[in-house]
Amino acid sequence: ALPRDLEGVRVVVSAGGTREPLDPVRFLGNRSSGKQGYALARVAAQRGAEVTLVAAHTAALPDPAGAHVVSVSTAAELQVAMEDAAAEADVVVMAAAVADFRPAERAECKIKKQGDGSAPTVTLTRNPDILAGLAQRRRPGQILVGFAAETGDEHGSVLDHGRIKLKRKGVDLLVLNAVGEGRAFEVDENTGWLLSPSGLEQRIPLGAKSELAATVWDAVAELVRAQGRR
Ligand code: C5P
Repeated sequence: ALPRDLEGVRVVVSAGGTREPLDPVRFLGNRSSGKQGYALARVAAQRGAEVTLVAAHTAALPDPAGAHVVSVSTAAELQVAMEDAAAEADVVVMAAAVADFRPAERAECKIKKQGDGSAPTVTLTRNPDILAGLAQRRRPGQILVGFAAETGDEHGSVLDHGRIKLKRKGVDLLVLNAVGEGRAFEVDENTGWLLSPSGLEQRIPLGAKSELAATVWDAVAELVRAQGRR
């Protein structure tokens, strides 16, 4: 049986990937399936938490038992839903893949092919960093968990990039996933590291997304206990 160590803890989890419309039929999207966020919501509910799941395009997944589900589409909608839910939450987990850019304009009608064979130019504009905004308006004692999907490059390893992002995002826990070559996105298993500002660098072995969720909630439950709220 799972521990009931999140009894009465109010958590909000975002899951899935946002879509940014170009016109009524087209959008810019990403490959997030929502499986990791759903596993986080499911496991939290099983451990006694009061769960709100903010879901962006996760229609293929059944609602996690016991969770209150809010469906959104764009990053702007996700931001509103998260700020709303976070105002009454003890723990906020941003597992959703948020579009960093959106088309600057959304055409009212379907964009037509031009007779001269030319193609339209799409101008993009930046979306807000929702997690950074949540960190700024964080309630006292609220625990914030972020995700980072990184690849190693000439500037450093996956872990190097994760350490930098942990600082930049101002979160209490960062789940760091190595991505590329069939990893993390769409698949049923996940692996990575769990980082914290106190120097935690816990390797998360390859396993079901529910196992990664359990590792995250273990760390959250410890932070909640350390606050003396339970
Ligand atoms: O900066 P990067 O996109 O790698 O950060 C990933 C983390 O930030 C995830 O937790 C993601 O949900 C969140 N994020 C966000 N708003 C964005 C982009 C990412 O909240 N516009």
